[in-house]
Amino acid sequence: MPHRGAGPDDGRPHTPWTTDRIWFGGDYNPEQWDPATWAEDDLLMAQSRITTVTVGVFSWSVLEPEEGRFTFGWLDATLDRLHAQGIQVVLATPTASPPPWFTLAHPDALPVSPEGTRLWHGSRDTYCAAAPAYRRAALRMAAKLAARYADHPALALWHVHNEYGTLCWCDHTAGAFRRWLRACYGEGAAGLDALNEAWGTTFWSQRYSTWRQVLPPRATQYLHNPSHTLDFRRFWSDELLAAYREQRDEIRRHTPDVPVTTNFMLPDYQNLDLWRWSREVDVVAVDHYLGSPDPLATGADLAFGADRARSFNGGRPWVLMEQAANLVVQPDRLLTKSPGASRRDTLSYLARGADTAMFFQWRASRSGAELHHASLVPHAGRRSRVYRETVELGDTLHRLAEVTGSMVFADVAVLWDADSWWGLDNRCFPSGRLRYPDLVRETHAALWRNGITTDFAAPGADLSGYRLVLAPGLYLLGDAEAANLDAYVRGGGHLLLGCFSGVADTSHRIRLGGFPGGLRETLGLTVTEWHPLPDEVSLALDPWGHGRWWAEDLDVEGAEVVARYGDGPVAGGPAITRHPYGEGTGWYLSTVLDAPSLTELVGTIAAQAGVSAVLPDAPTGLDAVRRRMPDGASWLFLTNFGAEAATVAASGHDLVGDRAIGPSLVLAPGEVVVIREARPAG
Ligand code: GLA
Repeated sequence: MPHRGAGPDDGRPHTPWTTDRIWFGGDYNPEQWDPATWAEDDLLMAQSRITTVTVGVFSWSVLEPEEGRFTFGWLDATLDRLHAQGIQVVLATPTASPPPWFTLAHPDALPVSPEGTRLWHGSRDTYCAAAPAYRRAALRMAAKLAARYADHPALALWHVHNEYGTLCWCDHTAGAFRRWLRACYGEGAAGLDALNEAWGTTFWSQRYSTWRQVLPPRATQYLHNPSHTLDFRRFWSDELLAAYREQRDEIRRHTPDVPVTTNFMLPDYQNLDLWRWSREVDVVAVDHYLGSPDPLATGADLAFGADRARSFNGGRPWVLMEQAANLVVQPDRLLTKSPGASRRDTLSYLARGADTAMFFQWRASRSGAELHHASLVPHAGRRSRVYRETVELGDTLHRLAEVTGSMVFADVAVLWDADSWWGLDNRCFPSGRLRYPDLVRETHAALWRNGITTDFAAPGADLSGYRLVLAPGLYLLGDAEAANLDAYVRGGGHLLLGCFSGVADTSHRIRLGGFPGGLRETLGLTVTEWHPLPDEVSLALDPWGHGRWWAEDLDVEGAEVVARYGDGPVAGGPAITRHPYGEGTGWYLSTVLDAPSLTELVGTIAAQAGVSAVLPDAPTGLDAVRRRMPDGASWLFLTNFGAEAATVAASGHDLVGDRAIGPSLVLAPGEVVVIREARPAG
C-alpha cells in the first residue's frame, strides 16, 4: 500500500535510514564524567539493553578548546569503547553551542534581539546563523568530525546541530534577509517594486526606495507590517536550512552511505517550515516533551506529535530522538511521570511509526543548567525506580524488534501549514483566541477521541488517497493550494474547513470579495463578516453544539445548513454547513466548537466519509493503532490512556507480555499491549 500525500513533493531520502531492532538509548555526555563513571555506564547500558547513544551534541568547547586546536582523543576513546560494547552511535555536530572563545573572537556572530540587545555566551545557542564567522566555524567543525569518524564502525547516523530555530535581528541578518528577498522578488528596482506591492508598503508610509532600507522587523513603535514579519519567518527557516545543508553536504562527501538528520523540536516550536525541512533530512528525527500529568491529555498530545513526525517523514518509520524519562521541565514546575507512564508513552510513539526510543539523556548531569532534568539513569543511580523502569523498557523494546519497518496508514489528514501559523502569529488580528497550533491540536484531538488514525498533510499535497481532510485555521491560502483543495472535493473527497480560513493570500494581503477566498464555490457560501467574541460568551447552536470565541455571517449559496447559531450576534444564521460538490462534500465550520461538540461533528463527518475507528467500540482514551508490513503482517498497538479498565475485542500474540490474547482483552489504566495479529487467510 503506497503512503499517501506527505507533502507537495515528498522527497525520497538520499540515504535511507532503516533498522532491524528498536533503537533504545539517548544523549550520552561522557565528557561530563570520569573513567569510573564510564565503567559503570558500560555495565548499566548492557544491563538495560541500550543499543544506541547520541554523542557530542554540546561538546564544542571540549573538541576545540581554542580556535583551530582540536582535541579528539576523548571522543576517539568514547566511540571505541561504545563499539566494543556493541553500542552504535548517533554522532552530533556540536554547533548549537559555540565555546566562549568564539564569542570573544567573533562578537559580531552573537545573536541580537529585536530590541538590539546583543546576547552573550553563558547559555547555549549563542550565535547568529547568518554570521559568516559562525558558519565558517560550524562547517569546519562538521568537516573535521566527518573526516575523522567516516570509517568508525560505531557510526550509525549523523545528527547535525541541535534543534535549529535560533533567530537573530543583527546586521548580518539584515544582509542575508535582503539577499533572500532579492531572490524572491527580483533584483534592482523592479524587485523592490514587487516587494513594495506584496507588502503593501504604501500603508503607514513604509515604501522602500533602495534595498538598503529593508531591515529585519526590529522593535518598533507600534504594529509591524504583517507581510514583512511573514517573510522574515520564511527567510529564517530557509537561512537555517542553508546552514544545515552546508554541514550535511560536507558530511555526505565523507560518508555518503551514512544517513544524516537533525532533530526537530515538537510540538509547538515553530521557527521552521517542517515540510520543507523534512525533504532535506534522510530521516525525520524529533524531540518531543509531554507537558501534562493528565493521561488523556498526554495521549492526545503524544499522538499530535507522533502523527506529525510520521507524516513529515512521508509515512516511513521515524526517529524519536529525545523524550523525557521522568521529570519534564516546565516554566515553573517539574512533573513526575507516574510508574509505568514512560513505557506507556514510549510504546505509543512506536505505535505511530517510531522505530526508536531515545531520551534526553542517559545519565543525569551533576551540574549545568539542566542538572534537574530527567534521565534514564537518575542521580540516585541504579537504586531508583526510574532506572529499574529503564531496564524493563530495554527488555520490552528488545521483544518488539519485529515491528521495525512496518508502517501506519490513515484515511484522514489534518492540514499543517507553517505560513498560516506565521500569518496568524501576529498582533494585528481581530481575536487573540484563534491561535493556529491550538486550532490544529484541537481538531487532531477530536479525531483522536474518535479513535481515528490521522496523518498530517501540506495544503498543496496530493490528498486524493484520503477520504477526509480537515483544515482548521487555514488563514493564509495560496491560489494553487485552494485549487488543490477544490479539486480534492470535486474528485470525491470530504473537506472540513475551519473558520477564519482563506482570509489572506501568500503575501498576507486580504482576499477581496468574501471568504474563504478560493473556496467559496467549493463550500457553497461566502463569509461576509466576522464576530470575535468575549471569552465568557458561549454560543448555543441549533440543533446541537456549542461555539466559542468567534462567529461569522455566512451567505449560503448552495450549501445545506447543518446547525444554526441559537443566540449571539448572528442568531438564526448558519454556523455549520455541508455542500455536496462534484463527487465530494465541502463542510464549513464558522465558529470554534468546544471539545465535546467538535468530537461529535468530526465523528459525524468521518462516518459520512466512510472513515471508521481502528476499534469502533473502544472507549475514549483507548488508543488503537495498527502498523503493517507490505507482506500482510500487522501489529495492533493498544494503549489505555483512560482512567478505567477497558475491554476490547482483539486476538493474537502480545509481544509485551509474551502471551496469547483473544478473543477479547481487558486493559488496565496505563496498560499497553502490542499484538501480532494472525494474517488473513489466503
Ligand atoms: C531539548 C534539547 C536537549 C535538552 C532538552 C531538555 O530537546 O535538545 O539538549 O535541553 O531539550 O528538555
